[in-house]
Amino acid sequence: MKRRTWRRFTDHCSCVLSAWTLLCSCLFVPVRTDGVCPSSCACTGLTVTCLSDGQDIPTDIPAWTSTLILHGRNVSTLPQGAFTANGSESEIRTLRLSHNGIRVIEPYAFLGLPRLHLLDLSHNQLETISSRALHGLPELRSLYLNSSVSPGAAAQLAHALNADSLRNLHRLELAGNRLTSIPLERLDIYNLHALVLINNSIESIERENVSSLYQQRRTRVYLALNPFRCTCELEVFYYWLKNSSQCADAGRLLCSEPEARRGVPVEKLRGEDVDCLNENLEAVSYVFLGIVLALIGVVFLMVLYLNRRGIKRWLNNIREACRDQMEVYHYRYEQDTDPRLANVAV
Ligand SMILES: *[C@@H]1O[C@H](CO)[C@@H](O)[C@H](O)[C@H]1NC(C)=O
Ligand SMILES: *[C@@H]1O[C@H](CO)[C@@H](O)[C@H](O)[C@H]1NC(C)=O
Ligand SMILES: *[C@@H]1O[C@H](CO)[C@@H](O)[C@H](O)[C@H]1NC(C)=O
Ligand SMILES: *[C@@H]1O[C@H](CO)[C@@H](O)[C@H](O)[C@H]1NC(C)=O
Ligand SMILES: *[C@@H]1O[C@H](CO)[C@@H](O)[C@H](O)[C@H]1NC(C)=O
Ligand SMILES: *[C@@H]1O[C@H](CO)[C@@H](O)[C@H](O)[C@H]1NC(C)=O
Repeated sequence: MKRRTWRRFTDHCSCVLSAWTLLCSCLFVPVRTDGVCPSSCACTGLTVTCLSDGQDIPTDIPAWTSTLILHGRNVSTLPQGAFTANGSESEIRTLRLSHNGIRVIEPYAFLGLPRLHLLDLSHNQLETISSRALHGLPELRSLYLNSSVSPGAAAQLAHALNADSLRNLHRLELAGNRLTSIPLERLDIYNLHALVLINNSIESIERENVSSLYQQRRTRVYLALNPFRCTCELEVFYYWLKNSSQCADAGRLLCSEPEARRGVPVEKLRGEDVDCLNENLEAVSYVFLGIVLALIGVVFLMVLYLNRRGIKRWLNNIREACRDQMEVYHYRYEQDTDPRLANVAV
């Protein structure tokens, strides 16, 4: 009897105790305790949005932030660890930085963002991109760089994108950058599903790049709004377009050069339109024609040379005949201008 009450009592105690711990832990769980919304930003849920009223990057980004949006601010340079306080790691998964006038990305700018999935750097004016700008982003899936890369920075971008840590990259968008080639040194280091290159200045994609595309069967490429040069240089690319079905918008690719093919869909070209052998044959036939004409000329000159006596005689005859004729004319003229004849006429 006594024992049972004691048991009940201890049960009761432990129950109360656990309730207390639960309550306490509920009260003191560190939800958003280490960061209030920065003064120049708006916070909803785990999203922090900082619009144009402030300058630069806010220094007091709360640690709980999952989506950070900066828009219309005057950022100009992204320094090392731009989004994390001194060596700490951030929970940010989505980082949207479009329209911020960013010109320079320094090495390790995105340090401390190991969970970053999406990075949007569209509509900036990138002039200097460190080759280590994109280091330390092992979870990055989508990278947007639409209308953002200055022509001089394309090669730097290629170096920056050649980072082993980008192995999970699924989607790379590079629309509207006046690129003349694919700014990737290799394709096998990523896991690319979509490579968007629409609205650039690509005239053709060369053999080497086409063969790397063939090797990445999974990659779909978007190439509309590029000024394709539909000469025989396009041959390798043309067959890739026809055979691989890797180009997701193949029907929308148009020729821009030469003049005669402007506006013609690249897909609608015939094999012989881009056949280099054909074109070479044409050139060869012109050379051949030239040689034949030259030979005929030489033969002609030789004939002239061998016949020079006869020709001389012939020329003399002609001259003689001409002189006779002239004399006849002369005679007639004199008769026509005879003053006596003129008087008769009056
Ligand atoms: C942006 O900041 C730079 C200095 O960092 C300044 O020279 C420039 O005028 C600013 N531009 C605007 C639009 O605020
Ligand atoms: C950064 O952290 C190091 C130690 O990890 C410390 O010595 C340094 O003062 C910190 N700097 C800033 C700006 O907080
Ligand atoms: C450019 O990037 C944005 C992300 O900011 C994306 O939604 C959009 O589809 C891209 N635009 C083009 C033309 O590809
Ligand atoms: C193509 O890109 C340029 C910037 O490079 C942009 O101004 C233009 O609007 C884009 N055109 C289309 C059709 O998206
Ligand atoms: C594309 O071609 C260029 C020049 O031939 C080469 O440097 C580059 O690595 C190639 N890129 C890919 C992805 O094949
Ligand atoms: C592509 O297809 C054409 C005919 O359709 C063929 O002649 C050519 O060899 C093919 N090229 C490749 C690389 O598969």
